[in-house]
Amino acid sequence: MDETARPNDLETYWMPFTANRQFKAQPRLMASAEGMYYRSGDGRKILDGTAGLWCVNAGHARREIADAIRKQVLTLDYSPAFQMGYAAVFEAASRVAALSPGDLDHVFFVNSGSEAVDTALKIALAYHRMKGDGARTRLIGRERGYHGVGFGGMSVGGIAGNRKLYAAMPGVDYLPHTFDLARQAFSRGQPEWGAHLADELERIVALHDASTIAAVIVEPVAGSTGVLVPPKGYLERLKTICDKHGILLIFDEVITGFGRLGAPFAADLFGILPDLLCCAKGLTNGTVPMGGVIVRKFIYDAFMTGPDSAIEFAHGYTYSGHPVAVAAALATLEIYAREDLFNRAKSLAPYWEEAAHGLKGAPGVIDIRNLGLIAGLELEPIPGKPGARAFDAYRKCFERGLLVRQTSDIIALSPPLIVEKAQIDEMFGLLAEVLKTC
Ligand SMILES: Cc1ncc(COP(=O)(O)O)c(C=O)c1O
Repeated sequence: MDETARPNDLETYWMPFTANRQFKAQPRLMASAEGMYYRSGDGRKILDGTAGLWCVNAGHARREIADAIRKQVLTLDYSPAFQMGYAAVFEAASRVAALSPGDLDHVFFVNSGSEAVDTALKIALAYHRMKGDGARTRLIGRERGYHGVGFGGMSVGGIAGNRKLYAAMPGVDYLPHTFDLARQAFSRGQPEWGAHLADELERIVALHDASTIAAVIVEPVAGSTGVLVPPKGYLERLKTICDKHGILLIFDEVITGFGRLGAPFAADLFGILPDLLCCAKGLTNGTVPMGGVIVRKFIYDAFMTGPDSAIEFAHGYTYSGHPVAVAAALATLEIYAREDLFNRAKSLAPYWEEAAHGLKGAPGVIDIRNLGLIAGLELEPIPGKPGARAFDAYRKCFERGLLVRQTSDIIALSPPLIVEKAQIDEMFGLLAEVLKTC
């Protein structure tokens, strides 16, 4: 066992989105990672069924990324982000833009998914002001949406537990979520039922008037609330209604970006061009915090007015386009291209789907959902103990050498795109075994 894996003190670190007391009584510690596997603090090999937290798309410990990071620190460790630049950050923006569909051709770099979302919301609000349409201040999110933990992202997010202790921003309305167990259970890929739920946007527009609405933000596939795949035709309708009313459409692709669905972005897969696209996670293969907002040309152009000496968008972070993150991103994008990982995900997706749906009939499983290399298994809740069954499964999987993700009574899987078929079998095989005991 690696001695450095044993913490001196479990108490002081206040862990994020964690049941601190429960965890500290029975900690689950990671010590190292390589390829498809973690090594736990007690020396066990753990198959990574979740690409860390949906971010390690090229697998762990990629030498090219490590080398690029090291080299960058010794060459230019930091460069002021405001009124100053360096070559690689422009190259990174060009590469990201080149990967993005349509005229999503300008990139604002940030440090996380949450920052990407808050930045996108601010761009949307400012865009309308720039166009002389300053009454468009309302934002539309969706129930069961997760857009990070900034005040903007939390406010447009639709997870009650993440909002109830804080004053969410006013001026936000919500689309209904798209999930219906009775009508969609065990759909393979996109459910047939539910496109009409996008029409709820018309109702919201009728209520508030389009002239007050700045933007709609959705995850093309909701990840954090348990893999909610959009019904066939739903996103298309949303796009049409947004365009009709001059409302900007923001895709939050923090999870779906960088090959997760077997295409660079969900926007490519669905053939729908959002006006702004948020990304993070897979951008650096999870190695260095980084995110970005990719915007269409007309949005960038709207800001490029007024005197040349004016700062067009009063927004940014000390670490926007941080050299080390940029070095990691460039090395990551290089790996994705060289190893053709997005197409690899695409070609594995049918096998993945088959393996996931092989768990139909397993004890407690009431739904299985999938798209690209994402799968969600919904379990029958134990009466009076919501989430307990899936947490039990999560814990037992970890004990037996598999990392899955649990939210309420849903188990989500989203492996690195380098996953082998045998490892897919291993994941679902082990999960099936574990479910017999939960
Ligand atoms: C869709 C989506 N948006 C935003 C975020 C927030 O990203 P971060 O945790 O990097 O702030 C996440 C994180 O899981 C996410 O899934």
